[in-house]
Amino acid sequence: MRINELQSPAAASSWCAQQRASGKSVGFVPTMGALHAGHLSLVERALSENDVACVSVFVNPLQFDEATDLETYPRDWEGDAKRLGSVGCQMVFTGSLAQFFEGELESDGALAPERLLAPGRGALGLEGACRTGHFEGVATIVDRLFEVVHPDRAYFGQKDFQQTLVVEEVARRRGAPQIVVCPISREESGLARSSRNERLRPQERERAVCLSRGLSRASHRWQHGLRDLRSLEAEILAELEVAGVQVEYAAIRERSAWSPESPVEDLHDPVALVAARLGQVRLIDNHLLGEVPPHPASAFKGLEFSSRP
Ligand code: PAJ
Repeated sequence: MRINELQSPAAASSWCAQQRASGKSVGFVPTMGALHAGHLSLVERALSENDVACVSVFVNPLQFDEATDLETYPRDWEGDAKRLGSVGCQMVFTGSLAQFFEGELESDGALAPERLLAPGRGALGLEGACRTGHFEGVATIVDRLFEVVHPDRAYFGQKDFQQTLVVEEVARRRGAPQIVVCPISREESGLARSSRNERLRPQERERAVCLSRGLSRASHRWQHGLRDLRSLEAEILAELEVAGVQVEYAAIRERSAWSPESPVEDLHDPVALVAARLGQVRLIDNHLLGEVPPHPASAFKGLEFSSRP
């Protein structure tokens, strides 16, 4: 069956209402398009847990803190619809800012700052500190998207760790939907899939692997008993420095108790998070240190992970 391609939130809203009226559960995957295998893994999960799945494709201007990033963000509506159709997704929709916030934009076409939603505690520190206003923009559009779709479940990638905290807060305030966080999909090299990877030159793409290597190094150390937070962060930084990328942060946080600053208590279930720039492209990645790292210990010749620190 062909995928339904809808060009407005109003059309999407009535399609979703029809599904619910016929007793079908709706799984929803919000995206900004330029879809890759990481996005599709979310869609496949949504299809496996719901009667129907739908996807939004909207490059949300509210969440961009750099004008050039917004302008150069890759867009491929036709390719996206084809990819979604091929995995069995039933509906994809888009819309303009004016359609999403009908009657709410100011004369200059912008949304009034007081109309933006507060993103909650998960937005504090790291990404939130580096990207002013980003999570306000995410919370505002995701809240509106939930209003349009009324999904039973909404699927987000762990790739954007703090974003999952922000959308969980949005859903908590609304009382729905259930938020499902899906694992990070990686290229064979270990590089986390991202629409922005398309903008990396071949040599930059090779260097970008230092993010997942750094996270893996910290993970191996954690799994062999290293508990000192600064030393774990130093393991990540060592890989980033060798590759000569511009580091924005390399930090450890407790997974289930988000703190804007480094935790002072003992770590139990830590997540390591990293952001760096390569040329024009800003990349982020993270890894739960207790889980299998993207790179095996054998990828770190000369480093000894087997003995306790
Ligand atoms: P976008 O970057 O297009 O990502 C859409 C969803 O795909 C997000 O939940 C993101 O975490 C997930 N994703 C991206 N790369 C992934 C990967 N390699 N593995 C697994 N999941 C991955 O995130 C956004 O759009 C926007 O902020 C949005 C939520 C749509 C609001 O505008």
